[in-house]
Amino acid sequence: MVIAARDVRLTLGGAEPVEILRGVDLDVAAGESVALLGASGSGKSSLMAVLSGLERATSGSVEVTGLDFAALDEDSLAVARRGRIGIVLQAFHLLPTMTARENVMVPLELQGAVDARTRAEAELAAVGLGHRLGHYPAQLSGGEQQRVAIARALAPRPSLVFADEPTGNLDAATGARVVDLLFERRRATDASLVIITHDPALARRCDRVVELADGRLR
Ligand SMILES: Nc1ncnc2c1ncn2[C@@H]1O[C@H](COP(=O)(O)OP(=O)(O)OP(=O)(O)O)[C@@H](O)[C@H]1O
Ligand SMILES: [Mg+2]
Repeated sequence: MVIAARDVRLTLGGAEPVEILRGVDLDVAAGESVALLGASGSGKSSLMAVLSGLERATSGSVEVTGLDFAALDEDSLAVARRGRIGIVLQAFHLLPTMTARENVMVPLELQGAVDARTRAEAELAAVGLGHRLGHYPAQLSGGEQQRVAIARALAPRPSLVFADEPTGNLDAATGARVVDLLFERRRATDASLVIITHDPALARRCDRVVELADGRLR
């Protein structure tokens, strides 16, 4: 299993605590793709934050790529996430002062790759952006920025990729092309994929669909 989550609970907020996750169990096998559905506010992004190690569960166990997230301190968790987990968000989140090439180089350099520049260029070529290597995010269209984000997430060859409404800011045709690329790149790299979406057609492309409701999966 790439993800083994058991009775995961998450309560956030100070004076008025919100029980966001109320006992989530989820297994994701190596190479599997899972669509995560649920109403707005049901806790999808929060669950992704917990499963990707960005947020700590209040209780329960989260084992990802064989690592017990609860047992790791902040530094070890940051190192563990590096190279193991790739994330693609709705709003691209590229570094604005870096070119497309440099954005993709960042996670490779953090991994200690000596050929980060060449590899970044190959990753960008694989998403059809070999002609935009030196462009800054502001000089790229939304779809192109999301393709850079996919290249950046997959470049370190993570075993697990999370995507949170990756087409939410794109028109339908551009979104469909971006999704095609995401599936193609994850197939080429054998990564497991957890994708949050409101799009039933996209959900159907995944091996399995799970839905969050009342803080639990059904
Ligand atoms: N830090 C926080 N403190 C208190 N409540 C929070 C916090 N973060 C999120 N919440 C609440 O938790 C619930 C789940 O939020 P989350 O962002 O996970 O929902 P979502 O399913 O991703 O929704 P959407 O489809 O709109 O993106 C929401 O009601 C939100 O207001
Ligand atoms: Mg969300």
